[in-house]
This record gives sequence, structure tokens and C-alpha cells, in this order.
Amino acid sequence: MQLFETRQAIREAVTAARREGKTIGVVPTMGALHAGHLSLVEACTKACDFTVVTIFVNPTQFGPGEDFDKYPRRLEADLEALAPYGVDAVFAPTNEEMYGPRHSTYVVVEGVTEPWEGACRPGHFRGVTTIVTKLFQIVQPDVAFFGQKDYQQALVVRRMVADLDMPIEIRVCPIVREPDGLALSSRNVYLSADERRQARSLSQSLELAARLVAEGLRDPATIRECMLEQLSQHPDVRVEYVALVDPETMQEVASIDAPVVAAVAAFVGETRLIDNRLLTPAEPSSAGA
Ligand code: PAJ
Repeated sequence: MQLFETRQAIREAVTAARREGKTIGVVPTMGALHAGHLSLVEACTKACDFTVVTIFVNPTQFGPGEDFDKYPRRLEADLEALAPYGVDAVFAPTNEEMYGPRHSTYVVVEGVTEPWEGACRPGHFRGVTTIVTKLFQIVQPDVAFFGQKDYQQALVVRRMVADLDMPIEIRVCPIVREPDGLALSSRNVYLSADERRQARSLSQSLELAARLVAEGLRDPATIRECMLEQLSQHPDVRVEYVALVDPETMQEVASIDAPVVAAVAAFVGETRLIDNRLLTPAEPSSAGA
């Protein structure tokens, strides 16, 4: 596994691999790697001949007052975590390498970026789509791996790749969770022991929603109320949104007669967490049809 810090060096490594006929896969990350990231790495090494993991805390996707400065940076530990996976290259550039002093070009996806994460974090997706485009341009992968954990992000990247005719296959991997249900996140390290306990409520509210849908409830407003009620029992949990949305458009649904995504964002203390789950209604029984 080789570490590259410049665009030119990683390009040369990828070009050499491609010349040998290898397929190229990329896993974009911001580091502080956990088992969620590593599940993407594993999927990539299985599917592709040459795996590139990128590690870059991208300043343009953080808003003012967000956690860019305190975001965990631990390249040494990340390299150790990656060592057993058969990764070929790690690309960990500096800010200066990625954004020159006159950088002034951004990639903006409309529509699907506007609600939820886009509304709570203005400019966030512009930063994501810009850095992902740059990483795609540098690595020129055949396949790129993203996590369902950031459901809207994965949808935005798919939209961008389709709209801009990028010849890259996007694969989305399932959410990796702690045994108690909490979705793994680099931001979980910010939580105190008490906040960590309360943070379970996000996945619990999604479980509740899944149970209600499985029991035959079809009204999104009622399910949303039940989720909010469940979350409100935790004093340090401040909900930003709870939404039941169409998996392709992120628009709220009026009834649940096809799979929907339940998405939640909340501050637990000072830490902002997100989670989501696909809710699939049981086939209506033919008895009353
Ligand atoms: P980061 O938060 O580091 O996440 C990198 C990738 O890991 C994303 O595709 C994310 O969805 C996935 N991931 C995170 N937690 C996961 C979990 N518990 N289970 C499965 N996958 C998980 O997302 C970003 O970085 C950035 O926005 C990036 C795409 C790298 C652009 O800067």
C-alpha cells in the first residue's frame, strides 16, 4: 500500500495500473476510519483490481461554525487500519494541493440537494460534489463506493455522475452499526458517555418506524409523530428533521405504498448525527382485493 500526497503521483500510479489492464476503484473518505469506511474498502478491493482510498477533510463542505477545525485527523492510525485490506494506494493530499489560491470553480447539483441536509447545511453539497468531481478527475476510477449512511449524499453523487456523463459506476453499501444500533460515524468520538447512550435514540426511532410500517401503518404523518415522540424522551437530543421520503427524489411522501426512506438528523449535545433506514411495506394481502 503506497501513500500519495500529490495529484501527479497518484495519477501516475493509477495510469500504470490501468496500463496493466486493471480496473480502478475509489473509496472517498475524510479519514478517522471506522468499520463503516472499511466495509466500503472491502467491497472495493473485492470488486476492483486496484483500490484507491482517498483521505481528505474537505474544507468546502463545512459551513461556518461547523466542526472543520476539530474534525478528527489521524492519518497514521488510518494507514494502520487499512493495512490488512489489500489497498493499493492511499491519496491524502493537503488543502493547498486540492484548492489552489485562485480556485473558483464549483459543481452544483440542483433539486435533490435542496431539502434536508441541503437546507440544514447550506453549501454542504456544493462542497461535496466539487471535491468528489475533483477526486474522480484525478483518480479516474471505473467504480466508486459510497455508504448508505449518507443517503442523500449518495443520491446527489449518482445524480451528478448521470447528469455530467461521468463514466463511473456508483455503488452504495449498507450502513454499519454498533451492536446497539448506533450508526458508525467519525463524529461519534465527540459524544460523552451520556450522549452516547442518548444517541441510540436515532436508530431506535428508525426501528420504530420500520416496525410500524411492518404492522401495516401507512400514514407518514403518524409514523413521523411516533418517531418525534420517541426522540423527545432524550433531553440532549435536538431534532433537525425527521422525514419519510421517496428514495429517488428525497421528496416527502403522502402515503407509504412503496419503499420509503426514513431519515433523521439531530444534535446530541453539540454533535450533529444523521441516520436513515429503508422502510418497505409488506405486500398488501390479496384477501380484500
Ligand atoms: P466520510 O464521512 O468520511 O464518509 C466516507 C464514506 O463512508 C461515505 O460514503 C459514507 O457514507 C461512508 N460511511 C460513513 N459511515 C458509514 C457507516 N456507518 N456505514 C457505511 N458507510 C459509512 O462522506 C464523506 O466522508 C465526504 O462527504 C466525502 C464523500 C469523502 C467527500 O468529502
